[in-house]
Amino acid sequence: MNSISNNNLDLKGKKVLLRVDLNVPMKNGAITETSRIEKIIPTIKLLLKKEAKIIIMSHIGRPKGKAVNGMSLKPISEKLSHLLQKNVFFSKDLISEKTLLEINKISNGSILMLENIRFNKGEEKNDNEFSKQLSSLGDIYVNDAFSCSHRSHASVEGITKHMPSYFGLQITEEINALKKITSEIEKPVSLIIGGSKISTKIKIINNLIKKFNNIIIVGGMGNTMLKHTGSNIGRSICENECGSLIKEILENSKKYNCEITIPKDAIVSTDLNGEGKEKKINEIEENEMILDIGSKTISSIETIISNSRTILWNGPAGYFENPNFQNGTKKILELISQKTSNDKIFSVAGGGETVAAINKFKKFDSFTFVSTAGGAFLEYLEGKTLPAIKALNQNV
Ligand code: 3PG
Repeated sequence: MNSISNNNLDLKGKKVLLRVDLNVPMKNGAITETSRIEKIIPTIKLLLKKEAKIIIMSHIGRPKGKAVNGMSLKPISEKLSHLLQKNVFFSKDLISEKTLLEINKISNGSILMLENIRFNKGEEKNDNEFSKQLSSLGDIYVNDAFSCSHRSHASVEGITKHMPSYFGLQITEEINALKKITSEIEKPVSLIIGGSKISTKIKIINNLIKKFNNIIIVGGMGNTMLKHTGSNIGRSICENECGSLIKEILENSKKYNCEITIPKDAIVSTDLNGEGKEKKINEIEENEMILDIGSKTISSIETIISNSRTILWNGPAGYFENPNFQNGTKKILELISQKTSNDKIFSVAGGGETVAAINKFKKFDSFTFVSTAGGAFLEYLEGKTLPAIKALNQNV
């Protein structure tokens, strides 16, 4: 494993292309949660100590290959600068010949952040020419974005084919922790999965069924299950095109003896900023949205948690940003936290929204491990080799 922690690695004056995950939650242009920024600071400090020139690459959101207002990394570069108490230069344009000129202007021990890498067309396509162009901007590449390593994109996968590539400190810590946990996992093992990023995660559930005794599906994922099993979910967020996948999930859950739990009741409202009322699922009206789980669902989750030896959690149970819809997420956190400390079980949480909830309710120390990764965490649990990790390991 090539790691930047190697004392013999001389980086003085070297241009280090550092890929991190600064895909942080934002509201009205302001960052609402900073864990992912804080987590990369040790790597940046080490590179500064080694007197490297640091070029930071990241994405935020899914702009699909074009510049999108509100998806700039500029506010994040300012936040990083504040946290480091150090100037962070910002390159506002797409990658072009001009980028190298800007990079060449910075001195040893300085930082330049590039604009959202997903504004460039070649990034998500993992375009070889774009990967080459990226690699021409630096001397070495460092991946410190475990949470993006399930993507075969140019800045995490393709680039490693064109330059010496290294693991950062944060990615190493995440891999080591998850390796240990997955090798020591004790049954019964339960997964709680929720959140609003439905499309990729719903496919993963089908593969996870074989590994878990219980899967509790809440949040946008829960709505999707409800919709495709015949319930009216009004205007709730959900994935439409996955009826046959849901059928397969339910069939496989029987085949592999994995109990699937979906919401029995919900807190609904017609407005994200409104107040909630508790309803049974069959009482939801056309103009209402499910914004949290109800009390009966919480009781079922409580029973499952109390009978588990390992609990993995990705994705909140509701729109916890509004206190009227935070109860389900908060309750899950409290239950896992008590169970972890009373019965010394393994509990692992992962994902941007999940980490934001954990921080909001100040429960960071309640888990055996908290990963910054969501999708990557789930794919790792599936037993998949993540493409960006494979690429780093091949680059020796
Ligand atoms: C995440 O938040 O899980 C990572 O930043 C990856 O984002 P993506 O799902 O848009 O690829």
